[in-house]
Amino acid sequence: MAEIESPRKPHAIMISFHLQGHIIPFVNLAIKLASKGFTITFVHNEFIHHQISKSQYNSTQVDIFSEARNSGLDINYTTISDGFPLEFDRGGNLNQFAESFLIDFPTRVDEFVGKILHSQSSSSYNYFLIADTLCVWPAKIAKKYNIVNVSFWTEPALVFSLYYHLDLLRKNGHVPANGLEENITYIPGIQSISTKDFMSYLQGSESTIIHTIMFAAFEEVKNADFILCNTVQELEAEAVSALNENQPFYAVGPVFPTDFSESTVARSLLPESDSTEWLKTKSPGSVLYVSFGSLAKIDEHVILEVAEGLLLSEVNFLWVLRPGTVSCDDDEILTVGYKNRIKDQGLIVPWCKQNLVLSNPAIGGFLTHCGWNSILESIWCGVPMICYPLFTDQITNRKLVVDDWKIGINLCGGISVSREEVAEKIKILMGGGKSDGLKEEMKSVRNMMQNALDGSSERNFDQFLKDLKAKILSKTKD
Ligand code: UDX
Repeated sequence: MAEIESPRKPHAIMISFHLQGHIIPFVNLAIKLASKGFTITFVHNEFIHHQISKSQYNSTQVDIFSEARNSGLDINYTTISDGFPLEFDRGGNLNQFAESFLIDFPTRVDEFVGKILHSQSSSSYNYFLIADTLCVWPAKIAKKYNIVNVSFWTEPALVFSLYYHLDLLRKNGHVPANGLEENITYIPGIQSISTKDFMSYLQGSESTIIHTIMFAAFEEVKNADFILCNTVQELEAEAVSALNENQPFYAVGPVFPTDFSESTVARSLLPESDSTEWLKTKSPGSVLYVSFGSLAKIDEHVILEVAEGLLLSEVNFLWVLRPGTVSCDDDEILTVGYKNRIKDQGLIVPWCKQNLVLSNPAIGGFLTHCGWNSILESIWCGVPMICYPLFTDQITNRKLVVDDWKIGINLCGGISVSREEVAEKIKILMGGGKSDGLKEEMKSVRNMMQNALDGSSERNFDQFLKDLKAKILSKTKD
């Protein structure tokens, strides 16, 4: 039967989630959808707009999407307030900020969406909502306005599945894990996982406002019409198909521009250093890239042991040491004395264009905190990893990289990190011999990801678009 098209154009309202590792794939999704002919209204919160535009353009009076629009994509860009003045220290007052995100922000989004739906141009469009799975408001708002609700999950299906089956884990006494180490085999689509590999939010019995948000979000997502996941079906086949039994769940990853060239849309919250000239002086595969991501705090002791371990290994390194990695005023955590000892062996920068770094031929390994975006980018570039997960999903992501796919090794067995062990693991990863197996596995996982791009992920995305259009049409008849 021929598809019945609505005369109104589908128009996605995409309200971003305020964390770096969520903003990057969300912007990529907006571009992907717009390149399929959709109209998008992309919304950052004002604070995020200021951070990105100040760091990338040195001006806050910019439309971050103007270049994308000039290239023919139909993307409007606007902002919404998170309820706090720009100068408010969100990180330093996390509880207050998170509480407002949970309680007040949904009302702001409601008003915002209501205004769009009642605007003059609204009769030309069929609106729908796309929000990060961590948002606690989409289902209520979508229901109120009778619009389709798409949830975007930026982490692996394995992690989604554990949160999704929280009730089952609680019923069996495995959440909170409370230091217990037991293998779980009853979650649909997960053959076996040890409780020690659970995300940090399922580990302890403490209950913070962040736990409340995470758990509320996973109740909310059960009412989503569609769930898009930034993973590759072949890499998480069983988890994806088990989730699909509950709700339409599509593996559409990796959602990033494949050539990793300059992007038309700025998305970094910090200014990016360019290390290309330094990398040019290094031979292929000789540099270890080190980054602990955009969010986590690390013990000063760990940073100092990593610093010494890097020197001991005698391997070249490019280290992103983000301001605030240890505490709010840690800019000088590494002494001038240390920096002098590095000489030409290493380069330390506050932030970089990670995609460009990982795809540089000089890079031969990645010491990573196991953020999901970093893992996907590393696989895309065929760079094996040393894993040092810090919190949240990173702990569970490590299992995929080291235990399941065998494309990385652990930094240390226990909690403590010693410089000797750091040096040893770096030598294993960057040297020949023991790392050959890793490189072979990486080749096959990378192939799977590359093939998925024109294969399963593209098919799944097209199926999603078809299902979405049908759902939109059925809503308009309600
Ligand atoms: C957290 C979670 O752990 C992660 O799994 C989730 O998907 C997002 O939030 P985060 O610390 O942000 O992780 O790490 P990651 O997911 O790796 O995302 C960081 C992003 O910032 C990557 O896309 C990376 O390319 C980018 N980045 C990082 C830079 O552009 N420059 C840098 O210097 C460092």
